[in-house]
Amino acid sequence: MSTQETSTGTARNDGTGGGLLSGLVPQPAIQASNMVRGDDLEGKVALVTGGSNGIGAGVARRLASGGARLVLADVDDAAGEKLAGELDATYVHCDVSRLEDNEAAVATAVERYGRLDLAFLNAGISSGCGVGEDFDLRRYRLAMGVNLDGVVFGVHAALPALLAAGGGTIVATASMAGIVGIPSDPIYAANKHAVVGLVRTLGQDLQSRGVRVQALCPSFADTAILGEGKAVLEQLGFPVLEVSDVVETFMRLLDSEGTGECWFVIPGRESQPFAFRRAPGPRA
Ligand SMILES: NC(=O)c1ccc[n+]([C@@H]2O[C@H](COP(=O)([O-])OP(=O)(O)OC[C@H]3O[C@@H](n4cnc5c(N)ncnc54)[C@H](O)[C@@H]3O)[C@@H](O)[C@H]2O)c1
Repeated sequence: MSTQETSTGTARNDGTGGGLLSGLVPQPAIQASNMVRGDDLEGKVALVTGGSNGIGAGVARRLASGGARLVLADVDDAAGEKLAGELDATYVHCDVSRLEDNEAAVATAVERYGRLDLAFLNAGISSGCGVGEDFDLRRYRLAMGVNLDGVVFGVHAALPALLAAGGGTIVATASMAGIVGIPSDPIYAANKHAVVGLVRTLGQDLQSRGVRVQALCPSFADTAILGEGKAVLEQLGFPVLEVSDVVETFMRLLDSEGTGECWFVIPGRESQPFAFRRAPGPRA
């Protein structure tokens, strides 16, 4: 038995948490799947976290042009309010690292537009620190809070509303850094790998309940998150995606019927689900 002190108390592997297999509880299956398709967005309702800028704003514009009703959830209030005004959408201040903010954002979608069909859990930040002498506990917690908690909390908050709508779609923005290591930001790589693991697991798990869960995994894209890294990439001649490339893959992913997939977006390559190798199973 292992015991450890955590910031929230004492945690033990003594079975009180249910154990690793406790999730193996049969879920009630629902028959009708509420598939959100790019050519049928009229009347659909979407939540977009990190929707004030960059990839989130690009996807929000595309969804709104197809007739979807949107709730943009972000901490950049000025940009979010402005975009919401342009798109006839609703902006809510939402720090995705806070569970109650995620729940309030979903409640806004349901109260304002009557339902939720699509949750695009996209807010994300770089960590700005490493794990050696450059470790910074505050930055670490912040990056894990936004990039991992933000997706877990977003799924938890959105699920009841998606199920009430007869099913729906969750798309999380992970990254290519969720599939390969990225030495410049190991903490970012760790939380994006965690998002990939979550999506691969939930994709299977929620399928029988009519909820698809997919991940978007872009390579470097031209948004504010690159910061000074953009100049470095340019110096190296490393190709950088436009936001429109990522939006295009988002729409293809939406139209795919898959679940638990991680769609890569890489300059010069056709986007598709990354083919993970089959892991070896036990031999009897
Ligand atoms: N641009 C890239 O190179 C790249 C590559 C792979 C993955 N991604 C991922 O794409 C997603 C979107 O990032 P982007 O590239 O558009 O960058 P961006 O900085 O333009 O957009 C990120 C958005 O998230 C918001 N945000 C930050 N903290 C938040 C919080 N606590 N709660 C709610 N919103 C918050 C920001 O205000 C901003 O609007 C992120 O998850 C990022 O990790 C980006």
